[in-house]
Amino acid sequence: MILLDGKKTSSDIKIEIAEEVKKIKAQGKKTPHLAAVLVGTDGASMTYVGAKVKACELVGFESTLIELPEDTTEEKLLNEIEILNIDNEIDGFIVQLPLPKHIDEQKVLMAINPDKDVDGFHPTNVGRMTLDLPSFIPATPFGIMELLERYKVETSGANVVVIGRSHIVGRPMSILMSQKRPAGDATVTVAHSRTKNLPEITKKADIIIAALGIPEFLTGDMVKDQVTVIDVGITRVDDVSKKRGYRLAGDVHFESVSKKASFITPVPGGVGPMTIAMLLKNTLLACSYKN
Ligand code: GUN
Repeated sequence: MILLDGKKTSSDIKIEIAEEVKKIKAQGKKTPHLAAVLVGTDGASMTYVGAKVKACELVGFESTLIELPEDTTEEKLLNEIEILNIDNEIDGFIVQLPLPKHIDEQKVLMAINPDKDVDGFHPTNVGRMTLDLPSFIPATPFGIMELLERYKVETSGANVVVIGRSHIVGRPMSILMSQKRPAGDATVTVAHSRTKNLPEITKKADIIIAALGIPEFLTGDMVKDQVTVIDVGITRVDDVSKKRGYRLAGDVHFESVSKKASFITPVPGGVGPMTIAMLLKNTLLACSYKN
């Protein structure tokens, strides 16, 4: 069994990006600048956004964190987005999800200038990606594709099962995997909460991408030998034995699945760090359009 080490791979990618930034700066060109908008004080979201800002510093990007209170109105948030849309200093920005319930997420995502939409969530980028046109690819699926490629996991012709159909992970993942080279070239099944006889489907999979958000859902008896398993889940599960009172659990029951797998991502240290590295890559791309 080979561990798909997202921590190490993302670190390699960040070194590559830092090299690029050095070159950009040496040529007197504009330094990439990412902004992140965080609404409210959700613990996990604060951690993720903090990690994104820290990663910017590490590679030599400029970063701006805009923190807004939980009771921010939709109008105020849309106004902040418009300011970022027209600010020439900002190359790309993200609005961390989920948003408070009183804000219409779709309306917010549609307000982002597609040229600065480094999360790739705007319909223009989703459409462009679907049509194989240059676009910002959502960071988590992009990171998974990169991880598979760097570890030379064969996807061409593989039976891939994506569990989950979210706009952030499952849906774009299924599109990328089904596309022609240099993307996945795979035969893709998208499974979800209404899927019947899921174990029958997962047992036939060469590659499983678990992105449903249910801790330790995929167990060893649901997979075949030599399977490749990508675990996108990261849920805080109460654990009094831990100092902080919780542990981080993936969607995969690592102990049983890893016994059968040929490749598997750990949680933490698998997909999570890759997401951040690919967000940086998208920001570099956004900046390169201006330079
Ligand atoms: N929440 C969970 N994943 C993501 C992501 O990739 N981008 C944003 N903006 N919010 C998220």
